[in-house]
Amino acid sequence: MDVFGFAVSAGGDFLRAAAVDAAHELAIFDTLARGPATLDELADVARIAPRGNTRRTHRLRALLDVLVAMGAIARSPDGPAFTTAPTPPPPRPVVARAGWGLMAEVIRSDRPLHPEGGELERRHHLHLARAGAAAARELAPFFGTTSLVDLGGGAGTYTAAFLDAAPPSATAILVDFGDVLAIARHQLADFGGRVSYRDGDARAVDAGTGHGAALLANVLHLHSPAICAGLCAAAARAVASSSGPGGVVVVKDLRVDEDRSGPLEGLLFALNMAIYTGEGDVYPTSQLRAWLAAAGLAHIDEHRLAAAPDAVVLVARRGEPASG
Ligand SMILES: C[S@@+](CC[C@H](N)C(=O)[O-])C[C@H]1O[C@@H](n2cnc3c(N)ncnc32)[C@H](O)[C@@H]1O
Repeated sequence: MDVFGFAVSAGGDFLRAAAVDAAHELAIFDTLARGPATLDELADVARIAPRGNTRRTHRLRALLDVLVAMGAIARSPDGPAFTTAPTPPPPRPVVARAGWGLMAEVIRSDRPLHPEGGELERRHHLHLARAGAAAARELAPFFGTTSLVDLGGGAGTYTAAFLDAAPPSATAILVDFGDVLAIARHQLADFGGRVSYRDGDARAVDAGTGHGAALLANVLHLHSPAICAGLCAAAARAVASSSGPGGVVVVKDLRVDEDRSGPLEGLLFALNMAIYTGEGDVYPTSQLRAWLAAAGLAHIDEHRLAAAPDAVVLVARRGEPASG
């Protein structure tokens, strides 16, 4: 099973230091000192897997995005190339050779790290639950229904906030993998029969149709574009109705600008995903919208959460495209 993301906000300094260390190791500063270079040229110098593999540069791209946002390198104003920054490159920091400290190796080999499971994973989910509680409470009114399907629901933070805010008749289905479901069952025990659980890949699990809302909270950044499209399609199926427009699909995830120039938090998280997942990434909002539209959800509203300023929320339904 895959990984889930990490507390980048808590480890941001180490992640930034690891990025500078990896840039030295991959000869990015030395190469740019000789002149501007494209992503592919930097990948060649860094000895990253051969050309022709379209995803070969996605981990390096995530590193370069962060270095640009930190001001350690720059983008050429007149093309897709990278150049030196106006200031000298940052000195190479001393970084422990574990976790993020293995960044250069991960980028070069195209092999992500796999965090340990078991107790560490359980604690990670409980951390996510605590860290996400305020955002989950703020998101609850967006559902406007008494029936939620929480796809990739993790420890159940969003399901709990939904049920707390909804009338007692409201119910939820939480979909995740078995070991995570065990944590969710424990966390959501007080809700008793109002929550049911489905074990397996949300793209394939039968969670029924006709629900008022389906949620993908902090799930898409773990996955490749193809899997994200499949998850959005599964969410759209869960809210489809034969007798009307159906319910809403809500996506909540980290955000990055369309040109990937910021915000730094989203770019750091994308770099984290590049190290710990096969093809995870933080996707621009236009890409999230495209997956939802491809799933038949044409009316899409965009929101921000005060409790999670680094995130974007999309609320999508069938119907006419949103104007503006
Ligand atoms: C970062 S956690 C987020 C959990 C929860 N939605 C939240 O925001 O607190 C991502 C969760 O999605 C689950 N997940 C990822 N891909 C999935 C898939 N294809 N099917 C079911 N669950 C999935 C993971 O197991 C994990 O529990």
